[in-house]
Amino acid sequence: MKRMIVAPSMLAADFSNLAKDIDVVNANADIFHLDIMDGVFVPNISYGTPVIEAICKRATIPVEAHLMIVEPQKFFELYKSLGVGSISVHYEACNHLDRTVKRIKELGMKAGVAINPHTSVQLLEDVVRFSDYILIMSVNPGYGGQKYIPYCTGKIAELKKIIEKNNPDCLIEVDGGVGLNNIQEIANAGADVVVAGSAVFAAKDPAEAIKKLQGI
Ligand code: DX5
Ligand code: ZN
Repeated sequence: MKRMIVAPSMLAADFSNLAKDIDVVNANADIFHLDIMDGVFVPNISYGTPVIEAICKRATIPVEAHLMIVEPQKFFELYKSLGVGSISVHYEACNHLDRTVKRIKELGMKAGVAINPHTSVQLLEDVVRFSDYILIMSVNPGYGGQKYIPYCTGKIAELKKIIEKNNPDCLIEVDGGVGLNNIQEIANAGADVVVAGSAVFAAKDPAEAIKKLQGI
């Protein structure tokens, strides 16, 4: 397997001992994945500014924010000031996606577009040209610990073709239900980055779980 970029989802971390889990990610992973939920775009609320700030302060590797919220543009400047290096917004939450993605880049951050399982990758043919990454949700967003939706593997392969044609630098990130049982199939389909919450933090040895997902 090629070397996979692994982004542990801090939603599955131990919030009563966050420093310990942050340090495991710092020492072993590639990116921090922060899931921001508003109880409107998704049926759950995760965590907000104080937690994002605490993680950014202790992080020694890049931090990405996955915004599962309506009106995500309201938070770009704030997150930039906290130290967030890349932001993904949902296709389904943005009326003016072109403007929104370009605003993230204007602020000096990497910009990603996230899509729900039901959203066709064909809709992204234009935005891949100026996006740094596309995040394919492989569960319905809102909760960690869900089961990978099998038809998403076909979507990764389909998106890979669109990217090769329009912007080979754009990365494919896969988020939801990723583990050692399906990492190979996800890698073969063309993913560059995987998000893993429970596969990392519910493992006996999270550092070893990260290494295995990376393919090391
Ligand atoms: C779901 C989030 C995911 C999730 C991943 O809404 O976007 O990042 O926390 O967790 P696992 O790996 O447990 O599916
Ligand atoms: Zn996520």
